[in-house]
Amino acid sequence: MSILAIETSCDDTCAAVVSRDGEVLANVISSQGVHDRYGGVVPEIASRHHLELTGAVVDDALQQAGTTLAQLDAVAVTQGPGLVGALLVGVATAKSLAAAHGLPLIPVDHLHGHVAASFLQPGPIEPPFLILIASGGHTLLAHVKDHGPNWEVLGSTRDDAAGEAFDKGARLLGLGYPGGPALQKLAEEGDATAFRFPVAAQVPGLDFSFSGLKTALLYKVRELGEEEAARRRADLAASFQRAIVETLARRVERAREQTGIERLAIGGGVAANGPLRERMRALAPDLHVPPRELCTDNAAMIASAARFLDPLPYPSYLRLDAYATGER
Ligand code: KG4
Ligand code: ZN
Repeated sequence: MSILAIETSCDDTCAAVVSRDGEVLANVISSQGVHDRYGGVVPEIASRHHLELTGAVVDDALQQAGTTLAQLDAVAVTQGPGLVGALLVGVATAKSLAAAHGLPLIPVDHLHGHVAASFLQPGPIEPPFLILIASGGHTLLAHVKDHGPNWEVLGSTRDDAAGEAFDKGARLLGLGYPGGPALQKLAEEGDATAFRFPVAAQVPGLDFSFSGLKTALLYKVRELGEEEAARRRADLAASFQRAIVETLARRVERAREQTGIERLAIGGGVAANGPLRERMRALAPDLHVPPRELCTDNAAMIASAARFLDPLPYPSYLRLDAYATGER
């Protein structure tokens, strides 16, 4: 018995089939490369592409899983937060598929999905544990007490998300979008101790702030001048990356001290970052990191979360709406 999930909260059109015990039977991700030229996601374009791609992506997922809709338990979908027009495509598709095949529908919060990526096979982590979700839209440090969406938020970002900091830094260094992977690659050739960037010293507690760091990079680039900044791009990238990783690591370290919980998981697109993984592993040797394709946006994590939620029967879910921010 299994669940089909659809995720369209940003620019990736995703569908997946996951079994009740958390085995990923199919995980299809169609990335809309069209946004690169604009240096960021254009909401209208994202919605239009989701409309064109969702049907085919769902068909591919069912085919790869070797199943049909009639054999499924339920349809799950990301309800929010995200781009509302993009989310609506997924929600409308999920409603129609569920209604047409007599299946219940399970609305899922996108962040619950990122947390639930850690509950998938192989080697799922069992609560309680601490988790750091760092993506283009979110930076969340939480104490996960069970499999449901009721984690305790310990810290979140006051301004930019960690992935956004990577993307904005990358843009300042003349790299393409999304900037995280490109910045990591450039940083490999640089010296991370060449420049000193601020490590969120002015933020108390367990919250994060990245806007000061971005400004510091901007000023450093200006101070060096165009030629020198271009010549030392790799050093700038490495030092900037180090500041982001350090900011995240220090908050996680403090959270572990305050809660006494040692088990740690990371997730979200930024968890694909090599130096971040290394730094976190140095803190917690049994660090839990899902495979890369389950860290960045995907539908398998949405199906995983759905396993721990109550399905809505027909026709109650027909009134369901997407939400852009906050909670249901
Ligand atoms: O979770 P995700 O796929 O989408 C959101 O929900 O936002 O995260 C995308 C973010 C982008 O900001 C991207 O630059 C960042 O994750 N990212 C990385 C790396 N791979 C993706 N940041 C740093 N290093 C990476 N290797
Ligand atoms: Zn995400």
